[in-house]
Amino acid sequence: MKVVLTGAHGGVGSIVRQMTADRADIELAAFSREQLDITDPRAVMSCFIHEKPDYVINAAAFTHVDKAEADPRMAYRLNADCLEGMIKASEKTRTVLIHLSTDYVFDGKKDKPYTEEDETSPVNVYGASKRAGELKVLAYPRGIVVRTSWVYSRHSRNFLAAVPGLLGNQTGPLYVDAFQKNSPTYAPDLVNALFCLMKDRIDSGLFHYTNSGGGCSRYVFALKVRDLMRQKNPAFFPAPVLPVETGYPEGAPRPVYTVMSPQKISQLPGVTVPHWQEGIENII
Ligand SMILES: NC(=O)c1ccc[n+]([C@@H]2O[C@H](COP(=O)([O-])OP(=O)(O)OC[C@H]3O[C@@H](n4cnc5c(N)ncnc54)[C@H](OP(=O)(O)O)[C@@H]3O)[C@@H](O)[C@H]2O)c1
Repeated sequence: MKVVLTGAHGGVGSIVRQMTADRADIELAAFSREQLDITDPRAVMSCFIHEKPDYVINAAAFTHVDKAEADPRMAYRLNADCLEGMIKASEKTRTVLIHLSTDYVFDGKKDKPYTEEDETSPVNVYGASKRAGELKVLAYPRGIVVRTSWVYSRHSRNFLAAVPGLLGNQTGPLYVDAFQKNSPTYAPDLVNALFCLMKDRIDSGLFHYTNSGGGCSRYVFALKVRDLMRQKNPAFFPAPVLPVETGYPEGAPRPVYTVMSPQKISQLPGVTVPHWQEGIENII
């Protein structure tokens, strides 16, 4: 099966590249931002015509939540508007487009895991731009949207992935948000679910994928990382972790509770939903 990957050097893209390296059933053509700018519809069309992919995994996006608030035009351009070019190119080559989205499409007012049937109501520009992108992809008959949250691996450029380094290098305590509750997702588990969609020849629909054991705050995540660091090396004392209960008063507004249920996608053969703690060992 031929697969085109965009955003190949991002957190998710890097894991897709890593996990296809030894798979005989997937021929991957991976494109970084320098190799394929997804805001250039002509470049996207000529890439798809040349590669003739069965599937595209679009892992390129504007992902900085606070910067999206400051630059909504750019956030919408990358997370929504440019999908029109990608959909046109996919139509031409009869390609299934797998697009990644986020739990930030929800307002966080629920107290039970969000399902694919729940109403969206984003509270910030990033979430609204991602929702606008979802609508375009879901209107395309060969469009798949996979929402995920707090994705971490060694390649991620976010707080979760940075925790081991911060705990190892900081002398004073690490103060971490204990307010926002979510489902961390180990990137290889997410990518395995994407591969299962393709293997099962799924060609449309909306899915949630996160690890299980949701309702975790960044504070709880950091505590778990610290515990594992201590278990691995009892002679080493990482920085203490202390909770902050105020959320993000200065950044973009964030939904408080956005745990999502991966029940629907977990019905597919091969999809596994390990506990969010299981991947941590691999990042410390
Ligand atoms: N990470 C999470 O916690 C999380 C949570 C929920 C949803 N998601 C979704 O998952 C997807 C992947 O996220 P991620 O964590 O892998 O994000 P990421 O690490 O920020 O990677 C995004 C990639 O997009 C590339 N990119 C930016 N502008 C581009 C353009 N014009 N053309 C082509 N590529 C461009 C970036 O290139 P550079 O490397 O050059 O910057 C980067 O490699 C996104 O749709 C995101 O919304 C992620």
